[in-house]
Amino acid sequence: MPAALSLQGLSKRYGTLTAVDRFSLEVEQGTVFGLLGPNGAGKTTLIKMLTTLMRPTEGDAFIQGHSIVSAGKKVRELIGVVPQENNLDRYLTARENLVLHAKMHGIPPRDYRPRIDELLELTGLSGRRNDFPDTFSGGMQRRLVVARALVHQPRLLFLDEPTTGLDPQSRRALWDHVRTLRSRMTIFLTTHYMDEADSLCDRIVIMDHGKSLVDGSAAELKARYAHAHIYELEVRRDAQRYEELFSSLSAVTSLEREQNAFRIVLRDEESLKPLMDSMESGDIRRICLVEPSLEEVFLDLTGKAVRE
Ligand SMILES: Nc1ncnc2c1ncn2[C@@H]1O[C@H](COP(=O)(O)OP(=O)(O)O)[C@@H](O)[C@H]1O
Ligand SMILES: [Mg+2]
Repeated sequence: MPAALSLQGLSKRYGTLTAVDRFSLEVEQGTVFGLLGPNGAGKTTLIKMLTTLMRPTEGDAFIQGHSIVSAGKKVRELIGVVPQENNLDRYLTARENLVLHAKMHGIPPRDYRPRIDELLELTGLSGRRNDFPDTFSGGMQRRLVVARALVHQPRLLFLDEPTTGLDPQSRRALWDHVRTLRSRMTIFLTTHYMDEADSLCDRIVIMDHGKSLVDGSAAELKARYAHAHIYELEVRRDAQRYEELFSSLSAVTSLEREQNAFRIVLRDEESLKPLMDSMESGDIRRICLVEPSLEEVFLDLTGKAVRE
């Protein structure tokens, strides 16, 4: 079985700006893949090329073995697209938006009718099927765009920043919906929300300036790239004395204390031993490693916070 998606040296230049820089990647069938990056990283440009809305300057990509450059029509049958900006037809009702999409894909009414009913049900829009999208909340519009992308039963679903601008409750609702799809198709989403990538994606690539910086599961990225060794340590007694002692150790790079509890950043993993050796073992009530967040990995790699 060919990869769901294979990118081979894909590039896009806008004049002198290289928005996507020789990007290569393989995504296996059934993956929820997350492309994470700050604004301007090149995520939308990449998705536009993969969904045949824009031609690459260089390179090619293959959706289940079909070239985005030379087999655009076949590629468009295989993919569903949720673009960054909602592009619903405001002069059509919710249901009519879905029907138009079905017709454009040449699906006969006897097939699309039950399918559209089901999708409206699944996205919680059945009661609003005959209303115009302009009367919908942001979350409802987004769910309608997702429903539309699923009408022709794609094998690969692209979601470009699916939850940007949504309130927390609508974001969760959309995440839940994406989770129900994961068994049936490959999902490729972009986001600048760490928690979104962390909770939805099997695999994450962080990109900036058109290039891939790292690739792995959320857990792998945290383990590999956030090199802060942060511990929480609680002592039974002598907190004042231990504070002085810890701050004199070269292994300790930062120290905070609240009564008997310390938050200690160590220089490296080996620094744990000298710290432990400096203590009476009976004085330790609790010690645990604090897991770094994906946010810290991101900061570490791109040198910037994720912009909203
Ligand atoms: N049509 C365009 N013409 C010129 N520059 C563009 C165009 N679209 C995007 N860019 C630039 O390309 C870079 C990548 O943009 P984009 O792909 O939208 O990033 P992202 O989706 O990660 O925010 C940015 O510097 C952006 O300003
Ligand atoms: Mg974008």
